[in-house]
Amino acid sequence: MSQKSPVPVSRSGRFTSGPGADVARFTESISFDWRLWRHDIQGSLAHAAMLQRIGVLTRTELKAIEKGLVAIAKEIEAGKFTWKPELEDVHMNIEAELTQRVPAGAKLHTARSRNDQVALDVRMWLRDEIIEFARELRDLQRALVELGSRYAHVIIPGYTHLQRAQPVFFAHHLLAYVEMVDRDYGRLLDCFNRLNVCPLGSGAIAGSTLPLDREFVAQQLGFVDAQGRAQITQNSMDAVCDRDFAVEFCALSALVALHLSRLAEDVILWASSEFNFIKIADAYTTGSSLMPQKKNPDIAELTRGKTGRVYGNLVALLTLLKGLPMTYNRDLQEDKERLFDTVDTVRASARLTAAMLRHTSVNEAACATAASDSALLATDLADYLVRQGMPFRHAHHAVGAAVALAEKLGKPLGELTSAELKGLNAAFGPDAKDCFNLGQAMSRRNLTGAPGTKEVARQLTRWKKALE
Ligand code: ARG
Repeated sequence: MSQKSPVPVSRSGRFTSGPGADVARFTESISFDWRLWRHDIQGSLAHAAMLQRIGVLTRTELKAIEKGLVAIAKEIEAGKFTWKPELEDVHMNIEAELTQRVPAGAKLHTARSRNDQVALDVRMWLRDEIIEFARELRDLQRALVELGSRYAHVIIPGYTHLQRAQPVFFAHHLLAYVEMVDRDYGRLLDCFNRLNVCPLGSGAIAGSTLPLDREFVAQQLGFVDAQGRAQITQNSMDAVCDRDFAVEFCALSALVALHLSRLAEDVILWASSEFNFIKIADAYTTGSSLMPQKKNPDIAELTRGKTGRVYGNLVALLTLLKGLPMTYNRDLQEDKERLFDTVDTVRASARLTAAMLRHTSVNEAACATAASDSALLATDLADYLVRQGMPFRHAHHAVGAAVALAEKLGKPLGELTSAELKGLNAAFGPDAKDCFNLGQAMSRRNLTGAPGTKEVARQLTRWKKALE
């Protein structure tokens, strides 16, 4: 049975000699697209099953092809398969090997082109990565909520312009990132839904004259909507050159990277001696080769740093696509490394950020000291005057005068006496100084989304439930 196929799988009779080594190196993609092997084989199995249904393959031929593909898959899995660069890409490598072993393998490429095949493989590969990535984003949200809950009572200064602004619960600051990641999660699901459409049957550009059952293939490969209806592309020309899904993924990943980078920057600042709000466990930091005292927040720094390549990948993809004439052009082979690198980078960044947060403790004393800065409550003092009926602009001015007086007297704002306040403005009553009670101040901030005692507890509970 297993006689060698006389028909070469790759270059047809048109080509008299193979490409030179340099040309082969330039054009090959097996060095990176081997990663698509599992999906390439899944796609071939579905295509073969369909070819049997429409009478192109006999039952025996289908069985032989299935056996051959499964055996190849096992060998690849076990690391025993030899990829041949002269066969260019993952599609040709697998098909050539199959045809060597199973003569009917020569029928597998009926009504299929590498153009619709690669479009299929990449969609299927990305679909699986998105499912993993979605889990990782959820886990990152969980790690943020856990850290916030562990230190639910800790208050820190909130910053604008990196200047102390108003007090917030530490958990509130972390929950801001939970919200950002939630939008990322939503974008990821959107991307999945638009991507989950089967291009197979589009051929090289113009479909096929054979009566393919595209719906069957789509069903086999899980390209279905919520009702289980097959999702197939509606224009063969679009289908073979559409890489919108890759761009969408890289764009949403750019936002993920941006959010992770901002979080990383906060972590780096907080871990500095100047802030000293948090301590990252040793396993998630590295030392300096020269300075024995150093403990560097490398995971956070690399997460921040890798944002550059994620943005770069997006711009590279957009640039790659912008001037392509319809339809498939070999340029499209360049999409994969950008996409693979983006997936690898953002997934690892999300995973390691979550792990780092789970190994981070909060220096409560340093946070308490920073949060006790009474200037953080200057706005509360202005709100006090508003409650006395003063227009806010005047109240702002009156508290400004109090800040100036405190500075002149060389003491914190909260330590001005009632008499000193009254001297500045008659509207300051004896209860004005109650504004500087931090606990009370936090309990007053209970608008939806505000960092108030009750509201932050409510948000923590809401997220815990949502992420269960
Ligand atoms: N390796 C190619 C790619 O990634 C597969 C498609 C090749 N198609 C072709 N007509 N040469 O785009």
